[in-house]
Amino acid sequence: MTRIVYVNGSYVPEHQATVSIFDRGFLMADGVYEVTSVLDGKLIDYAGHMKRLDRSLDQLAISNPLTVPQWLELHRRLVRDNNISNGIVYLQVTRGNPGDRDFKFPSKDVVPTVVAFTQSKPDLANPPAVEVGWKVISIPDQRWARRDIKTVQLLYPSMGKMMAVHAGVDDAWFVEDGNVTEGTSNNAYIIVRDKLITRQLGNEILHGITRSAVIQFASESGLQIEQRPFSIQESLSADEAFVTSASAFVMPVVEIDGQSIGNGSPGRLTKKLRETYLARMRQSAI
Ligand code: PDD
Repeated sequence: MTRIVYVNGSYVPEHQATVSIFDRGFLMADGVYEVTSVLDGKLIDYAGHMKRLDRSLDQLAISNPLTVPQWLELHRRLVRDNNISNGIVYLQVTRGNPGDRDFKFPSKDVVPTVVAFTQSKPDLANPPAVEVGWKVISIPDQRWARRDIKTVQLLYPSMGKMMAVHAGVDDAWFVEDGNVTEGTSNNAYIIVRDKLITRQLGNEILHGITRSAVIQFASESGLQIEQRPFSIQESLSADEAFVTSASAFVMPVVEIDGQSIGNGSPGRLTKKLRETYLARMRQSAI
């Protein structure tokens, strides 16, 4: 089925959507994005994603080209027109097309480019991988130093994913100065007895929207929260491990670098957190 996508104010069949070759998103990766999940036709943690979009744009001095109601209308219309029951809405805002290639940012008269599209994922809430958990490898974190900005420069994360594929596993955890930063496209956690450990916020990781909800739900369920760096070695002696993202929700991790975590199957507390996360998020979906 041909999707209806959004490009700079128009809703068009995907093959009619075009962006200039001079767009700074294309030439310089000068743009940011968000991914919001859709369950039963409703947006999950939408407000969180919009807040982070504002922050990313602000950090790069790109003005937000759409108003709050316009963003919501865009999301809802794409979900409706493409008949999305379960899936995601991807949006991207770039600094736009200055008409030439130049390292300097163009003047504020250049209008940011906005594109958005949906991807249908019927088994989003129940992917088979949840039953067995993910295997990951550790790789050096060779990304730039402002990972808190959700930019479209995803080449190294993409290379990391391919290193995982070539190693026959599901994902890679980035390691910097001896500690885990995050996964290729998710935040990383370990559980030791009744403690949930995840790296503190900073420029080294993306401030995951799922992360913030999961920390809240974990704390409400009685887990102690420790936001600090942890190593691969500490992870291997943990009871459980998992990752979070808008599209994986809470995904168990059962193996790192060929060594099992716990008994090598998805952890009990991880499963509970996933169930709580999905139940609470369905309640607040809009
Ligand atoms: N990725 N860390 C990185 C590097 C990410 O790319 C993502 C999300 C996360 C989790 O953030 P959130 O919980 O807000 O989705 C952490 C998205 C899903 C993607 O690129 O597809």
